[in-house]
Amino acid sequence: MDSTLDELEQVLWSDRGPAVLRTLARLGSRAPLGEQGLSEVPLLAGLGLGTQTEQGFKPNPLGIKCADAAREYIFWVERDRRLHREDAWPQLELSAFRDKRVLEIGPGWGCNLFRLQQVTPHAIGCEIEPVYRRFTSIFAKIEGVDPPKIDLGAGEQLPYEDDSFDCVLMFSALQYMDARAAVREVARVLKPGGHFITSQPLFPELLTDTLGALGKPRVMKDKLIELTNSVSYEISGRRLFGNTLDGSTSRPVYLTRHKLVSLLSAAGLTLRPGSSVPTDGDSPIIVEKGHAVPSTG
Ligand SMILES: C[S@@+](CC[C@H](N)C(=O)[O-])C[C@H]1O[C@@H](n2cnc3c(N)ncnc32)[C@H](O)[C@@H]1O
Repeated sequence: MDSTLDELEQVLWSDRGPAVLRTLARLGSRAPLGEQGLSEVPLLAGLGLGTQTEQGFKPNPLGIKCADAAREYIFWVERDRRLHREDAWPQLELSAFRDKRVLEIGPGWGCNLFRLQQVTPHAIGCEIEPVYRRFTSIFAKIEGVDPPKIDLGAGEQLPYEDDSFDCVLMFSALQYMDARAAVREVARVLKPGGHFITSQPLFPELLTDTLGALGKPRVMKDKLIELTNSVSYEISGRRLFGNTLDGSTSRPVYLTRHKLVSLLSAAGLTLRPGSSVPTDGDSPIIVEKGHAVPSTG
């Protein structure tokens, strides 16, 4: 894996880099490759990221992760290198993080940390997937900035002291973890009065996606597994089906709003005065360490 990523880095750094990055991003978005993309296929296959097929290219598990990282990089550039939802949510205004000790759990290659390090030297990440973390230095080189610090570790067992951070962030990451253990860890590493900002898709979105998968047997199979896992997590706190070899984002669990609030509350994380729990997963929920959570109403 390391030598493949070293070679890919050389390619991305060459004149061909922008075209290869765009091709990977298209693979990550499952978009048609187009003529230009198809011309990059022999190179991607030669690097060991998958196999050439009649239709184009079938990435292997490493290729899928590289494609995911490239897709998220292009999305980030297209949103002017901002945080997810930064424009829509005043709570995510960059100045709110100035000089704060911030931890992002599950940052991927670190797009949000690249943004946060503009206002604080104390923004770090904890990411479970080494391939995504390898892209941190690749994209830092492309961007011409220092890479943010991202530790390798699990959200369920954070490698930090108690009371270390003013703010913990998760963007579309909690659904891949054992949410109960991860939320407890967030509460442990937050300073008293510190806050946790999290946004992730919730159970109603899974129902909508499942209905949308009618007539698409392969997508439907995944959605049914996710439904089973989500219901089983809700009832017993466990997934019935574990992660696949494809890695850390392969078996999400979609919590109900009620379950999310009860996990936060049990960990001692409470809604900020005047806030409510959003009904959709796109909107961030913001809680503080220290008080009791009101009922979801
Ligand atoms: C959908 S990506 C989101 C990446 C980034 N937060 C963003 O907003 O672009 C979810 C991330 O969570 C990471 N992840 C999954 N399970 C994890 C765990 N148990 N501990 C830490 N990170 C985890 C994945 O590897 C992946 O990078």
